[in-house]
Amino acid sequence: MALPRILLIDDNKSRVLELETIFQFIDYRIEISGSEEYQSSDSKIGQLAAIFVGDGIDKQATVINQVIDWGKDTPVILLINKGTLSQVSSLIVQSVFYVLEWPTSYTVLKALLHRLPIGDAQAGIYSPEVIDRRKSHIQRLKGKSHAIVGIRKLIDRVASSDATVLILGESGTGKEVVARSLHDASLRSDKPFVPINCGAIPGELLESELFGHEKGAFTGALTTRQGRFEMAEGGTLFLDEIGDMPLAMQVKLLRVLQERSFERVGSNKTINCDVRVIAATHRCLEDEIKENRFREDLFYRLNVFPIEIPPLKDRAEDIPLLINDLINRMEASNRGSVRLTHAALSLLMQHDWPGNVRELANLIERLAIMNPKGLVDAVDLPEKFHKFQVSDQIINDVEVNLEDDENLDPLEVIASFDGSSKSLAQLPEQGIDLKEYLNVLEIDLIRQALNECSGVVAHAAKRLNMRRTTLVEKLRKYDMQR
Ligand SMILES: Nc1ncnc2c1ncn2[C@@H]1O[C@H](COP(=O)(O)OP(=O)(O)OP(=O)(O)O)[C@@H](O)[C@H]1O
Ligand SMILES: [Mg+2]
Repeated sequence: MALPRILLIDDNKSRVLELETIFQFIDYRIEISGSEEYQSSDSKIGQLAAIFVGDGIDKQATVINQVIDWGKDTPVILLINKGTLSQVSSLIVQSVFYVLEWPTSYTVLKALLHRLPIGDAQAGIYSPEVIDRRKSHIQRLKGKSHAIVGIRKLIDRVASSDATVLILGESGTGKEVVARSLHDASLRSDKPFVPINCGAIPGELLESELFGHEKGAFTGALTTRQGRFEMAEGGTLFLDEIGDMPLAMQVKLLRVLQERSFERVGSNKTINCDVRVIAATHRCLEDEIKENRFREDLFYRLNVFPIEIPPLKDRAEDIPLLINDLINRMEASNRGSVRLTHAALSLLMQHDWPGNVRELANLIERLAIMNPKGLVDAVDLPEKFHKFQVSDQIINDVEVNLEDDENLDPLEVIASFDGSSKSLAQLPEQGIDLKEYLNVLEIDLIRQALNECSGVVAHAAKRLNMRRTTLVEKLRKYDMQR
């Protein structure tokens, strides 16, 4: 049988050598190309198991877009140096199959390769981003509260029109989830959904990011480049954090919304566009208008169809469903699992969740690391939850409210705690790297102890019942010194 083939496009010599060794060891045939010559691999790309693209190469975005284009369904994996994810454009992160931090471990690489789609067999699922994209046609907006049910109705009603939608809600309430659901429910669902975070891109770059530029339009514009409006042609452009858009750009955006046309920076050729715009912000735009930071005329353009997502504390009945969804997603991507007791759940439902669903997601991930496949009871929750009273009433209310839903069992994740001889952790089917697993556990507990003790090593050591010198040694081992 022919060995599966991988194409590696990378200019980092030492990384190439290391990957070559690993891939050969696990019986993959690896073809290596520098960023200069990769174009000659074009013809054979269809038969590849995956394409790995290294960071630090020239014209990285162009290379990635090109290989994605060639390969169609061939998964493209971007290699980046550890800790540099925030520097990678979110558009790239969303267009590749997986972003792999380098150096990586043999275990992670092997797990990733196992999850690559084989032919048109089941989709390989690994990172949360990947799951989100592949689930695009499945209901992803979870919740049974009045608010969420209402939002789902609004989405149904407005999806098939091309009306501009403005999504309002605190940070972490699910604005992007709503935007994607809206796109998926629309007639544009087979065309691109292109998000852009207007708050994260410096003002002077935003215009070229949105509208593209011609070669030589400004210093650094070495090639002609499409903007996000062009990329979203036929589909949906999601203008996230619109409240942070500089006033000068607001004028330009207003014009596009009115005339459905724009020019690339440095060009006077008008381009017509067919793009549906969804905008979102956590800010109160009326206040921004009063402070002269947001244009009133743009607000009225955008506010044709507002959708407001209430904070999580006002819809605690969504919490069991959200937890269920988060755990399902973690399980599907082999990031662990966890179960909660009714008592633990009742405490979670009393918290005010300033970080909303994102805060909940972080907690569940952390609980899963600390209690792999185990059961989390009230006492296992972080300190801040201990001020609440365990209450059966809260859970009963939800159970009653959810009785009519036959498709979802929101309390499936909640086990009753009978103190029986349940294992602390369950060995996953595919086995685990025990050493790495224990290291992760150790690091997490040390970090918690340090946080609790404001970084005072001697106190943290006491919390962990170990000598200060032992802890110092561990901090050095895990490179955790500050
Ligand atoms: N109703 C929901 N159903 C399923 N998942 C949700 C829901 N609401 C939020 N999430 C999850 O919570 C996290 C935060 O959601 P999202 O990024 O959409 O929030 P946001 O309002 O855009 O936040 P921010 O203002 O921080 O950008 C994501 O992981 C998302 O998948
Ligand atoms: Mg967001």
